[in-house]
Amino acid sequence: MTTTRTLREKAGSEPITMLTAYDAPTAAIVDEADIDAILVGDSMGNAVLGYETTLPVTLDEVASRTAAVARATDDALVVADMPFLSFGVDDADSVENAGRLLKESDADAVKLESGPHTVELTRRLADLGIPVMAHLGLTPQHVNQLGYQRQGTDRDAAERIVELAREHEEAGAFSLVLEHVPSNLARQVTEALDIPTIGIGAGPDTDGQVLVITDVLGLDDSSPPFSKQFADVRSEMKRAVEAYRDEVESGEFPADEHSHVESDVEDLY
Ligand code: KIV
Repeated sequence: MTTTRTLREKAGSEPITMLTAYDAPTAAIVDEADIDAILVGDSMGNAVLGYETTLPVTLDEVASRTAAVARATDDALVVADMPFLSFGVDDADSVENAGRLLKESDADAVKLESGPHTVELTRRLADLGIPVMAHLGLTPQHVNQLGYQRQGTDRDAAERIVELAREHEEAGAFSLVLEHVPSNLARQVTEALDIPTIGIGAGPDTDGQVLVITDVLGLDDSSPPFSKQFADVRSEMKRAVEAYRDEVESGEFPADEHSHVESDVEDLY
């Protein structure tokens, strides 16, 4: 069973694996594959809810999806992503919203897209017993300011990321996601911290890797350049749906083995 403590212990000795999942059947597969942590990411907005960005994702959506994932997970650490404006506006609301994801949805930890505004919030949550995974580099909730560009590409920006990473570690974050930053920056952040770094588009020298499950499975028609598709589930789903349509239209389905007949209900009229 993965806990925030065992995740920290694994760092530096074995690579940490994390994938997103947004529903029970997918979470069960990810968990059975011995993935260390499941992130119920707000990437659900683009990946499964049909939004253009993550901004419209609500706390209710994350809460409901996290509860489904937690019900299907025995071993992996379940991390719920706090959606846009569910944190950082008002301290009491931020704490209540994060707490809800642990108390009602059974998450083990929350993730916050981080910046200078989340250092004290991370400290408060950690003090209250809510484990925090920080997230620096590309933070898609800032799409309207940053777009989806690489981050930390010049010296000042890279130094700001190292500094913020240290501040979040000092505030009590148990791990840090680094998204779409240069590999050599990710390596330096990893060396500077004791807590595990988990990279996405951050090269090979972080303590772990995370990808979005729909990219891994090949369910989306597009995916970011740093991702890798490990299967073509979209084609397989399309094939199954078309086969079903064809068999219903031809009368081949349902066959005798999919139907039953009761002698008692013969000759009703
Ligand atoms: O929402 C998400 O899935 C994420 C990962 C890409 C790290 O934040």
